[in-house]
Amino acid sequence: VFAGIAQGPEDPILGVTVAFNKDSSPVKVNLGVGAYRTEEGKPLVLNVVRRAEAMLINNESRVKEYLPITGLAEFNKLSAKLIFGADSPAIQENRVATVQCLSGTGSLRVGGEFLARHYHERTIYIPNPTWGNHPKVFTLAGLTVRSYRYYDPATRGLDFQGLLEDLSSAPSGAIVLLHACAHNPTGVDPTVEQWEQIRQLMRSKALLPFFDSAYQGFASGSLDKDAQSVRMFVADGGELLMAQSYAKNMGLYGERVGALSIVCGSADVAGKVESQLKLVIRPMYSNPPLHGASIVATILKDSGMFDEWTMELKAMADRIISMRQQLFDALTSRGTPGDWSHIIKQIGMFTFTGLNSDQVAFMRQEFHIYMTSDGRISMAGLSSRTVPHLADAIDAAVTK
Ligand code: LMR
Repeated sequence: VFAGIAQGPEDPILGVTVAFNKDSSPVKVNLGVGAYRTEEGKPLVLNVVRRAEAMLINNESRVKEYLPITGLAEFNKLSAKLIFGADSPAIQENRVATVQCLSGTGSLRVGGEFLARHYHERTIYIPNPTWGNHPKVFTLAGLTVRSYRYYDPATRGLDFQGLLEDLSSAPSGAIVLLHACAHNPTGVDPTVEQWEQIRQLMRSKALLPFFDSAYQGFASGSLDKDAQSVRMFVADGGELLMAQSYAKNMGLYGERVGALSIVCGSADVAGKVESQLKLVIRPMYSNPPLHGASIVATILKDSGMFDEWTMELKAMADRIISMRQQLFDALTSRGTPGDWSHIIKQIGMFTFTGLNSDQVAFMRQEFHIYMTSDGRISMAGLSSRTVPHLADAIDAAVTK
């Protein structure tokens, strides 16, 4: 009965890893998926995570019961505190409904499904470009996806004027997806002053912010600084949605641990919103997994472990920043044509190189370097050992 089924395409990001795994070259480098690697090119499990897991395993009173539909309550509280700040008025006034979800993607999907059912405006504006999964998540949730200008290829920076124009002409009440920090794929973020203008415009038009925060602590190395954009929108007393992921900042990629928070106008509304979120979640996957959320809660609630985490997080962020400098220096010393200063100006896990899909294909073919076809490279996948190889490949690609 399935004989007529067509072969589906590989995912534009995860498919890069599939192709990489099939390549037997010893010099191959995977700069596709945004996953942190050490200087030795190995995945990293944070020490503090190992410590938390050991504590959980040694706790004999720990059981494997179902979590509630909304997830681990302690994890939800701590997650809201982490992103909104301990002194957030919205938290103090109990106006935040938080549910544990399957990492960032799951949080976006639950939020999207909730909006499609209960919010009066079904159009969501996403930046152009954005993470490849965003349009699919929201379309399948039942929203209509439109885009707003974000990136200017000429400056390899923010198209701030275009962004303001597009949001100004969005219908009142439309949902707007915002990357909280370290925009994926461009690595280009608004300045604080620009965020303030975006906030004023959005609030004046009653546009509903839906933040995606996948890199808190990863962009600058500071958890508070990377949450600044979000906190500006909470401080004004308005409503918003927030999708949080612990994949990158705790290295818990495969644990699928994240949270969706909806900041509401009152505690009463937050309670009703939570009751509706439960009705979205229960028929999809019943309730979320226990292990990852327990690791996160163990770390966030203990000040010693929290500090240890922030130090390990900062070390990851710093290594990425040093990779930017090394790649920039390597291209400069080769005299590679073009202005490569965007490599050190962009922030977070990715550099949007400006290489086109032909150049990307050439680098895969000739140098066994793997990246997404839009020219995005994961800086977290680079090391001092692989920078010269990448610089040679870029140099060959742009001069061929
Ligand atoms: C990425 O953009 O590489 C990551 O967010 C991983 C993913 O799931 O796409």
